Amino acid sequence: MRILGIESSCDETAAAVVADGREILSSVVASQIDVHRKYGGVVPELASREHLRQIVPVVREAVEHAGMKLADLDAIGVTQGPGLVGALLVGITYGKTLADALGKPLVPVNHLEGHVHAVFLEAHKAGRTAKLPAVCLIVSGGHTVLYEVTTEDANVQDASARLKYRKLGQTRDDAAGEAYDKVAKLLGLGYPGGPILDRLAAVSNGTPAPVKFGPTKTRGNVLDFSFSGLKTAVLYHVRENGAYSEEIVRREEALARGERKFEHLLPLCSPKTLALVREFQNAVVHDLVERTMAAAEELSVESVLVSGGVAANSQLRATFEERAKSAGVEVFFPSRALSTDNAAMIAAAAYSRLRAGILADARLNADPSLVLA
Ligand code: KG4
Ligand code: ZN
Repeated sequence: MRILGIESSCDETAAAVVADGREILSSVVASQIDVHRKYGGVVPELASREHLRQIVPVVREAVEHAGMKLADLDAIGVTQGPGLVGALLVGITYGKTLADALGKPLVPVNHLEGHVHAVFLEAHKAGRTAKLPAVCLIVSGGHTVLYEVTTEDANVQDASARLKYRKLGQTRDDAAGEAYDKVAKLLGLGYPGGPILDRLAAVSNGTPAPVKFGPTKTRGNVLDFSFSGLKTAVLYHVRENGAYSEEIVRREEALARGERKFEHLLPLCSPKTLALVREFQNAVVHDLVERTMAAAEELSVESVLVSGGVAANSQLRATFEERAKSAGVEVFFPSRALSTDNAAMIAAAAYSRLRAGILADARLNADPSLVLA
């Protein structure tokens, strides 16, 4: 069963062919980072326009890389939501038209379920099985949400069963990736912020943190997250300490010259800035790991799954590995390429939905706030 996945929910136009929900035959991602960089975030209108430009060549390339023709496909899976409505509509319209022209089934996919399947794809590649029940943390620029993942079939406790999701907690304000992006922007470190802050935090040496960020408290549900307070605390600390302003200006000048790599920016960061970045990252990682592990222990799950762009973070991975080991559960991450938005995860999720008989017809519409259940 060879399924073409199409993903266009945010700022990546992606297409992939996956066999039997497990074997990636091709995966093509056209990123729009360069288009959105100068705005420091995704501009919805520009995203839709870029998807329109990219969708045809990206799908063609994915089918060619898989060594196939469109007619060889068995089904088409497309992201229905959540995401930007204009961006989603490009993928959906194209997917619908293609399915109709080829006479193939069209499968609507929840983007978040795609992120869950990215973990299963990777586990399969590594010859591992992520046993269920699990808790899954999806942490990206648009989402920070924690689910319990179980199966509908008591006899099958892995991803080959139809999966059920129960939301345990979510961010009340910013997503974790959004906090990374905003903090990087205010420090003159460019966009997207996650990868550069990740590397800068890692090289910060013994300099004491210039400010301490305590654990965030969320009233009510203890498994909810909150990152806007942390971002604001960084902002106030920087504003109140004139010492930062000169180096921020120097970094912004470097960015304007196109010098945005780690090698360019590291020499322009004082030990104090590096220590501030380290302290910010410690706070984010601690929060994500502790809440997720509290849920894992409370529910006595078999596995912890971590997916989404921020799952690429090296400290997050190392801390999860360490904590999971001492708690006696297995932790699973996608590769970096499968962590960020891609269409292989959409094709994989489409396979399990297709087997459950979930199909769309010509009325399929984008749902910007589609819920995963
Ligand atoms: O999943 P993704 O590609 O797109 C969304 O759906 O948002 O995630 C992008 C987000 C950005 O906010 C980016 O700063 C963050 O993931 N990110 C990271 C790292 N790599 C990407 N955050 C922390 N550490 C990283 N290494
Ligand atoms: Zn995503």
